[in-house]
Amino acid sequence: MTSSASATASSPAPATLPTSSHGSLAGSLIEAFLVVRGETERRAAPLSPEDQVIQSMPDASPAKWHRAHTTWFFEQFVLGGHCRGYAPFHPDYAFLFNSYYVSAGPRHTRGERGLITRPGVADITAYRRHVDAAMVDFLGRADAATLQAVAPLVEVGLNHEQQHQELMLTDILHAFAQNPTAPAYDPAWRFPAQAATGETWVDLPEGIHTVGHAGGGYHFDNEGPAHRALVGPVKLARNLVTNAEWLAFMDAGGYEMATLWLMDGFATATREGWQAPGHWYKVEGEWRIMTLGGLQPADPDAPVCHVSYYEADAFARWRGKHLPTEMEWEVAARGHHLNDAFGTVWQWTRSAYSPYPGYRAIEGALGEYNGKFMVNQLVLRGSSLATPAGHSRVTYRNFFYPHHRWQFTGLRLADYD
Ligand SMILES: [Fe+2]
Repeated sequence: MTSSASATASSPAPATLPTSSHGSLAGSLIEAFLVVRGETERRAAPLSPEDQVIQSMPDASPAKWHRAHTTWFFEQFVLGGHCRGYAPFHPDYAFLFNSYYVSAGPRHTRGERGLITRPGVADITAYRRHVDAAMVDFLGRADAATLQAVAPLVEVGLNHEQQHQELMLTDILHAFAQNPTAPAYDPAWRFPAQAATGETWVDLPEGIHTVGHAGGGYHFDNEGPAHRALVGPVKLARNLVTNAEWLAFMDAGGYEMATLWLMDGFATATREGWQAPGHWYKVEGEWRIMTLGGLQPADPDAPVCHVSYYEADAFARWRGKHLPTEMEWEVAARGHHLNDAFGTVWQWTRSAYSPYPGYRAIEGALGEYNGKFMVNQLVLRGSSLATPAGHSRVTYRNFFYPHHRWQFTGLRLADYD
């Protein structure tokens, strides 16, 4: 839950729960469904129709598309497959709002989502209401066997929608950052207060640890299988790297020193003209950062945000340190040794996003959810200020390409000396 969302948007009126003849599973599914669906609308509420159409770069999607795509997910994977007699709301929407599910049929080009002015925002609101009503009705009437079959799909759909809730904020922030008037998503928004600053380290002695999700409770397939890993000896920074530390890197010429950088990283930084993290602007000699609250002075004690893997890696080298592996991060986080592990910035690790030993993607179309992305990306751990409440876990594996920096991404260091 973000302070931004909570400060601005109004909650939609919940649909009336139907009387369930099958006890608590239907009721709890409906309740969870309405809460998550309502949070999406709460986050979208401060956005005008014009805001909701813009796509500021191919990686960022319009808010209207996020609202529609998450709705299509339930229509495609729950109602379409399990609700007898359900007819799609509109014959074009599967094509427009399928993201990357090849087995679910052809789809619109990702980088051209911002060209779609019709259906409009009001049409998408009607689409959401239609699917919400159909889902509530379906779950309320489903027999026990059907409920058991669809419960995991509903759960994936809700966790999927929560991921898009975060993307909706990162994407609109990127769009607003292109606007010379620096509009605020929520003028009252402030960066989350950090628990601690300063250089302090946790020692992890050499040991064999069980990592990954052992089952029980919701988790994405990429978090398992749980397995044993050799970790340490290593020291992990208890605290996140701050803006003050990043400014020292910039002042030392870090962005110009090719020897600090991976070759691909320096090529990207040069090509893109990077001189500072994403969304940083120099105004009258002072660095300011474009945030959900508009353009704000760079707080030296706040964690640095909007850095790519390439920048994080160069910074670590400049400091004579390293980025941790995801296993080192997980072991330290399980021991509650890390400050701000969750809720501020996702933390880059130097671990490739690859399958755990024995991993197989789940059967069917939803097998495309995580497994097919397991190459060329890096794992980030923790969660960010935009991650919905209850969405992340100590085993959660986020992943992005090394040049990506429009997400709420930062870092903590590791040391092996
Ligand atoms: Fe999606």
